[in-house]
Amino acid sequence: MKPFYMTTPLYYVNDRPHLGTAYATISVDTLVRFHKLFGEEVCLLTGTDEHGQKIEQAAKKRGLEPQVHCDELSEKFKSVWSELNVDFDIFYRTTDDFHKKAVQKALKDLFDKGEIYKTSYEGWYSVSEEIFYTEKDLVDGKSPEGREVTKVQETNYFFKMSQYQKQLIAHIEAHPNFIQPNSRRNEVLGFLRQPLNDLCISRPKERLNWGITIPFDEDYVTYVWFDALLNYAVAQGFNRPGMEDHFSKWWNNAEVRHLVGKDILTTHAVYWTTMLMALGVKLPDQIFATGWILNKDQGKMSKSHGDIMDPLDMKKVFGLDGLRFLLVRDVHLGNDAPFSMDSAILRLNSDLANNLGNLLSRSTNLVAKFFDGKKPACGDEEFVKNLKSLGKELPEKVEGLVRQMKPSFALEEIMAFLSETNKYLEDRAPWKMIKEDQKTTGEVLANALEALRIASTLLFPVMPDSMTELLKRIGFEKIDFESSKKWDVIPAGSTVLKGDPLFPRLEVQTT
Ligand code: MSP
Repeated sequence: MKPFYMTTPLYYVNDRPHLGTAYATISVDTLVRFHKLFGEEVCLLTGTDEHGQKIEQAAKKRGLEPQVHCDELSEKFKSVWSELNVDFDIFYRTTDDFHKKAVQKALKDLFDKGEIYKTSYEGWYSVSEEIFYTEKDLVDGKSPEGREVTKVQETNYFFKMSQYQKQLIAHIEAHPNFIQPNSRRNEVLGFLRQPLNDLCISRPKERLNWGITIPFDEDYVTYVWFDALLNYAVAQGFNRPGMEDHFSKWWNNAEVRHLVGKDILTTHAVYWTTMLMALGVKLPDQIFATGWILNKDQGKMSKSHGDIMDPLDMKKVFGLDGLRFLLVRDVHLGNDAPFSMDSAILRLNSDLANNLGNLLSRSTNLVAKFFDGKKPACGDEEFVKNLKSLGKELPEKVEGLVRQMKPSFALEEIMAFLSETNKYLEDRAPWKMIKEDQKTTGEVLANALEALRIASTLLFPVMPDSMTELLKRIGFEKIDFESSKKWDVIPAGSTVLKGDPLFPRLEVQTT
């Protein structure tokens, strides 16, 4: 099986992490953990994007040297992701020395190959997006995203992006999964129906100092997107002497997926892919565009709108795994999603406190009470047939949905299976049955524990801490995908532990 390499975008250090960026990061963490559960070798990259005008301005506003500002904010991202249990393998910073060298080498190679030329230029620049627009791109004097633009007239270096237009269209058409979801793929193809411009890849130092010097002209720094996009490949060894084998394994022979927000799809689907074509490097397997977490007014939650929610505050309210669960369960990857406290609380109460939590406490309490805390044998209880076949099908169903980038639907399936298990328990009512038939009662409870084992193994990528605890309580400590495909795995006689509710009920706030 190919190694699996997945990336988040590199976050601008003009802002602290917020619920929107936490959503992207937790989504990738969950997907990567799923692939690890399926038995693949995995690598998760996240990090910070630290050059450009926007960051220079943010540092200036704080009266700090840009590097000092970047060091602080980058550390903040790293620590928040760790607090959210994001298991990243690489935390990438674009101000690291090896990155600068690799970017300069890429520029020099392209320049030597005649892929870069110098010309005078006039256009409109959006600092908040770090993107150039032409006059005809503007909508009511602003960028298509509604951001302020300023007129810029200067001599710059350009990458001959336009000459890759046909090749890019052909690649997208030949690889239906390359850009996903389909609606976004169509948007990119629509964009490529218009003539493609060349890409301005430099900024004169007299206007912007905070960037990587262009290796063939000391008076310029590199355009921040050209610099930042290269991270994905440089992280795995591209243009890094001595890392050729690593690069071959983790780029050329890996499944490479980028998760990006819909607002930065063009930079990835068009700039990045044409850069790779010019550099003669393999394209990623997939660029998947997510929607946004929306604020109260249905706009993108972001610093510029001043309405951000702090993920660490949310962690205090929902618990770490509650927050992680919410972000994966209630947002279909690719769609926008409003965030409301009330619906979040309802969701956690119904799925985790009631459905999963009640099943766990009922089964462990009854095993403690009637079977001295030892798991009874599954035996041949006859009414479990349907539940058992649902359980055995579940891991494959979940795997299929995750591979299609549909983790919210995978969670829906797991929750439906847990509801079936609760129903089975209600129907068989072991709390009554114990009076007349101890053997069957034990079998019913053992079956409930088996169902919990399957469900919690499959929920592990979303809620690693609480599922580890849950598995421990039901007497099975391994996180093992293969055994989640089987029934009757926890050895009879294993110790089953009662405990406090893993997911306490939350009160809906009345305001
Ligand atoms: N630095 C660039 C990306 C460079 S990748 C080589 C950038 N950074 S960003 O910090 O502005 O945004 C990073 C990602 O966070 C984007 O994919 C963006 O869509 C995502 N999000 C920012 N706010 C968000 C929401 N409210 N909801 C969901 N995703 C959000 O762009």
